[in-house]
Amino acid sequence: MERTFREQLFLLVLCLSALKGDSRYIENNDISRDDLYSVFNLDLKREMPEIPEELIYRRSLRCLDMISVEGQFTFTAGRPHLNCATFFMAEPNEVISLEYDHVDIDCRGGDFITVFDGWVMKGEKFPSSQDHPVPLFERYVDYCDSGAVRNNVRSNQNVAMLFFRIHNEGSSFTVTIRKHLNPFPCNVISQSPEGSYTMVIPQQHRNCSFSIVYPVEIEISEFSLGHYNNIRLLPGCAETGDFVQLLGGNSIDSSKLVPITDLCISFTGPTQMKIGCENSVVRMVSSGRFINRVSFSYRLLNSQELQSFKLNSIDDFCFSN
Ligand SMILES: *[C@@H]1O[C@H](CO)[C@@H](O)[C@H](O)[C@H]1NC(C)=O
Repeated sequence: MERTFREQLFLLVLCLSALKGDSRYIENNDISRDDLYSVFNLDLKREMPEIPEELIYRRSLRCLDMISVEGQFTFTAGRPHLNCATFFMAEPNEVISLEYDHVDIDCRGGDFITVFDGWVMKGEKFPSSQDHPVPLFERYVDYCDSGAVRNNVRSNQNVAMLFFRIHNEGSSFTVTIRKHLNPFPCNVISQSPEGSYTMVIPQQHRNCSFSIVYPVEIEISEFSLGHYNNIRLLPGCAETGDFVQLLGGNSIDSSKLVPITDLCISFTGPTQMKIGCENSVVRMVSSGRFINRVSFSYRLLNSQELQSFKLNSIDDFCFSN
């Protein structure tokens, strides 16, 4: 919603400047007015000029917080805070960057601020270590260890996290959060319990998960996995090297979820599946030989549907126990 608003705002600014003959923006970006139209086809966000200082959203950070907007956030300790965490979230096709503007903490006294590339909940991680491009220890970037070197940390997916511990009253820090377009999103946590999404893995040897942290019905509307071209019936999905899995469970780590079904054979018409779990995941395993894609939509299960899951323990392994 915020992005649409910003795009509209930018369009407005662009139109106004064109009308007024004020081509400052256009000159700055080396494009002629004839090329104006092409701007509409570009990523508007990336083309957007820097936001003026006075328009930056600012607020204080709470010890436990959730942030889905860009802006500048300040934590000031009124007393010792030993276990604080901030969850950041962006659109599926965005990544998040965090920049330290000011840090006044006692690293030697045991204070820390650590950015995590993903989310950690109850000790479990998203994306799972299996599906993340960098080893687990590199996903933690501690300010006290590396602050001077890595002032700016960028996530690999639409979620990131900050952990911090501050012992002394009056210590504080300020960070700026920005979102950046990610042309090939891989791992994603959905911002809402309903929506639709198309996952594409363009000839890359990697696995991607789209995680919906609600009990939902998922409907697969379309998928194509490269090996359909040579029509061959293969024994198991795992042996094909390219397949789509639906998983469910009560962990955010997709490697700890239960596979509900694997899809890899030619497929006509929509497939629906109700997953009565805290986390429902569409995961694509890709060998790198093909361009693989899957499109799906999802909606929250209503209380009746959840109730029937609880009564009928045959289908279910999440809400039945
Ligand atoms: C992707 O997942 C499959 C099956 O879960 C696994 O065998 C394979 O090693 C994974 N590939 C990568 C690149 O992580």
